[in-house]
Amino acid sequence: MKNITLLGATGSIGKSTLSVVDLHPDKFNIFALSANTNWQQMFELCNKYQPNYAVMVDEQSAEKLSNAMTADTQVLSGAQALDEIAAHQHTDFIMAAIVGTAGMSSALCAAKAGKRIMLANKESLVLAGDIFMQAVAEFNAELIPVDSEHSAIFQCLQSGKSGLNKIQLTASGGPFLHTPIGKFKSITPDEACAHPNWSMGRKISVDSATMMNKGLEVIEAHYLFSLAPKQIDVVVHPQSIVHSSVLYEDGSTLSQLGNPDMRTVISYAMSYPQRINSGVAALDLINTPALEFYQPDFEKFTCLKLAFEALNKGGNAMITMNAANEIAVEHFLNHQIGFLDISKIIEQTLSTMKHATPDSLESVISNDLVARKIARKISKQYV
Ligand SMILES: NC(=O)c1ccc[n+]([C@@H]2O[C@H](COP(=O)([O-])OP(=O)(O)OC[C@H]3O[C@@H](n4cnc5c(N)ncnc54)[C@H](OP(=O)(O)O)[C@@H]3O)[C@@H](O)[C@H]2O)c1
Repeated sequence: MKNITLLGATGSIGKSTLSVVDLHPDKFNIFALSANTNWQQMFELCNKYQPNYAVMVDEQSAEKLSNAMTADTQVLSGAQALDEIAAHQHTDFIMAAIVGTAGMSSALCAAKAGKRIMLANKESLVLAGDIFMQAVAEFNAELIPVDSEHSAIFQCLQSGKSGLNKIQLTASGGPFLHTPIGKFKSITPDEACAHPNWSMGRKISVDSATMMNKGLEVIEAHYLFSLAPKQIDVVVHPQSIVHSSVLYEDGSTLSQLGNPDMRTVISYAMSYPQRINSGVAALDLINTPALEFYQPDFEKFTCLKLAFEALNKGGNAMITMNAANEIAVEHFLNHQIGFLDISKIIEQTLSTMKHATPDSLESVISNDLVARKIARKISKQYV
């Protein structure tokens, strides 16, 4: 029986994780759960899973949950409590599924405590890739990607990296793949969140629509698999059936295929190196629509171009880009700025921020805060 600490329990990945746990009550126990403000959903989850701990980062929400709690669950509050449950001696696996920079510290704490980290929070690698990978190696933690593309690469690389030439991350292209750029100006948050293949949280849905999500994934792949930027290609594949591919020197290409459902990826991370039922149907190739592949359009999806540039530049460029993106997406979701303003705000923040090379978590956090301040100021021009 493995004790799971599920960070981001009320989100899209959280929900899919719990549905895999439901299929295997003999293998997995929910030890701790976390959310930010959604105490009502957390209340229901605590009643169902009876975890030892429930963390609400927001203090008022923690108080409301604590007052309502009938289960034998200890309610904790604040970001520090996330670090504590992630590194708790009884935690075996953590699912790092908090959205954004807020998920970085707890994932790093789990790495330093030598846990199995099922990493959905790509921001941990985008912001602090070197520090994070170093901690994983030093403390003998296990890092299993929970992103469909990286899980695909991880699965394809099971026999090692010998003869590896490059990897190809597939991208669905999001809801606006075939939308003329002239219409981008009037895109609404609801349109941007209506992903054709995947059901996800709103922030990552907007990132998919701008293709910043693919940019973040390129950076994630760079750290996860120790690859040079030129070894990482992106190919647009609207059907999201081929989740990614590995290309070898001998002309061989290995790909992982499946229906687009995160439960496959999550169950693999939970059962690795075995495989268990995830509740996802096997792929029916006969009735699958024809698979298409295209070059990404870097002029239309400027965010993808910016991410490659930030990775090549190194240092704090990725931190700045991620911070500016989080601020811009938040403004966009609040109907304060237009869809096209997202990349403009990121570009301007990147050119305003001074270059630096953060070498500690503290300097990563302070770079992130400065970049957010600059991005907020720049955003005012567009509001
Ligand atoms: N969804 C996918 O298919 C998918 C695929 C690959 C990777 N990912 C990655 O997985 C992560 C989660 O994505 P998601 O789509 O599941 O997001 P989501 O549905 O928006 O859920 C986010 C979760 O994080 C919690 N949270 C939000 N802000 C927080 C904060 N400041 N401190 C602590 N917890 C906070 C939320 O709690 P409340 O409900 O209380 O706000 C919720 O439980 C992201 O990094 C995303 O890029 C997602």
